[in-house]
Amino acid sequence: MPTTTPSVTSTPSVVALPTATALDTARLLLGVFLPTVARGPIIRRPWAVGLTARLDLDTRAVGIVRKVHARYPEGPLMLKLPVRKQAIVLDPGDVNTVLAQSPEPFSAASSEKKAALSHFQPANSLISRGPVRTVRRALQEQVLDTEHPVHHLADTFVPVVEEEMQALLAEAVRTGSLPWADFLDAWYRVVRRVVFGDHAREDKDLTAMIIRLRKDGNWAFLKPVRKDTRRRFLQRIADELAHAEPGSLAAVMAAAPKGDGAEPADQVPQWLFAFDPAGMAVFRALTVFATHPDAVATARAEVDGDTSGRRVLPYLRASVLEALRLWPTTPMILRQTTRAVEWPEGLMPAECGVLVYAPYFHRDERSLRSAHNFSPERWLTDEDDGWPLVPFSDGPVVCPGKQLVLLLTSAALASLVGGHDFRVEEGQILDPDRPLPGTMDNYSVRLGVSPRA
Ligand code: HEM
Repeated sequence: MPTTTPSVTSTPSVVALPTATALDTARLLLGVFLPTVARGPIIRRPWAVGLTARLDLDTRAVGIVRKVHARYPEGPLMLKLPVRKQAIVLDPGDVNTVLAQSPEPFSAASSEKKAALSHFQPANSLISRGPVRTVRRALQEQVLDTEHPVHHLADTFVPVVEEEMQALLAEAVRTGSLPWADFLDAWYRVVRRVVFGDHAREDKDLTAMIIRLRKDGNWAFLKPVRKDTRRRFLQRIADELAHAEPGSLAAVMAAAPKGDGAEPADQVPQWLFAFDPAGMAVFRALTVFATHPDAVATARAEVDGDTSGRRVLPYLRASVLEALRLWPTTPMILRQTTRAVEWPEGLMPAECGVLVYAPYFHRDERSLRSAHNFSPERWLTDEDDGWPLVPFSDGPVVCPGKQLVLLLTSAALASLVGGHDFRVEEGQILDPDRPLPGTMDNYSVRLGVSPRA
């Protein structure tokens, strides 16, 4: 995303932003917000993902946003809500502005995000404001090596991915199939080893603990925080950091210089939690490869010719990004104004929620080539420059784990497709000659696996 010229100022204006009618507000709430939240913002509910896929609710949601945008073409749109000030951003340039001007005046620490994430990481950078946010964000960037495509611990991490994927494949070849649940088990092993080290490989209790707290997180304000469980969970993490295994992210965190208020233990759950969507992206890309012969051929040519030890796999990294464009795992990027903000079209009040609904931009065939098809090449050229393709968000609050995710997920795909053939035996069939579905129900997919022909 290019840096846009800021179009917001703090000078108060008398003109209010356009406001949607009650009917259009209801359309957005019921057709866009509700299905997305019902699926589970913090941990997915598989039944709701299945239902969304069957009813094609994500495609419908994009259609609703498009119709509403056509009725209010200018500027961010305020919703007509009794209790909350809430806007939706519909113009690509305005999306770029909001993301570029985060966290001030567009704070990532929106009320609902705070309520949801406080169930397991109350002092995490994403829901912090002011000087402590700066300290926590800097710590995240340092540990996750945000600026570098290849994390400095790649020599440890990439072999972990390879080992776990080979163990998974051996079992899948023996049984003849690879369901999502088996993939997820293997992926969680990768995550625990990368975050805490080899000793945590089988520490399923820790994973179960965060899953339980994330389920509460789905309810945000509507469920009280289990303070005891959260305290025990964060203490477990603090103990891990105190005895961090060399070669793990925990060890980098333990050794990193920390400013006042860094709260290192509270920064770690985001890693455990956010590796879930990374696993989903791998499995979804794999399902695409199982059904798209040209794409898998290009992927294999890259793997066969790789001289980087699986550190630099541009096509596979682009394939993960493309899976995340088609099926974004953070479809709603939420911000909240820290003060009144003046747009050319009118004033956005202070403490106003701001929603960027990513699928609206990711699936816009009026502006994107092959918007509904798998085309990783788009990420390797500048064809979409300026257009908000934002699976990892963008600007100063961009996901600091993006490069690490792309390193590990591309290495996983290389391990999987390098030596094995896959076919879809159950679940969604993805046809390269037809538009890909708006929802990809990874939970329903079972892949057939055999050694590469
Ligand atoms: C496919 C996987 C992932 C996706 C799609 C993703 C996406 C995102 C997005 C969209 C945000 C910004 C949220 C917002 O603006 O409200 C974010 C924030 C963040 N992500 Fe990721 N993420 C992924 C995996 C990871 C992983 C594996 C880690 C760590 C190992 C990580 C660490 C973080 C952190 C620490 C933040 C908060 C940044 C801040 O406070 O400024 N993410 N991620």
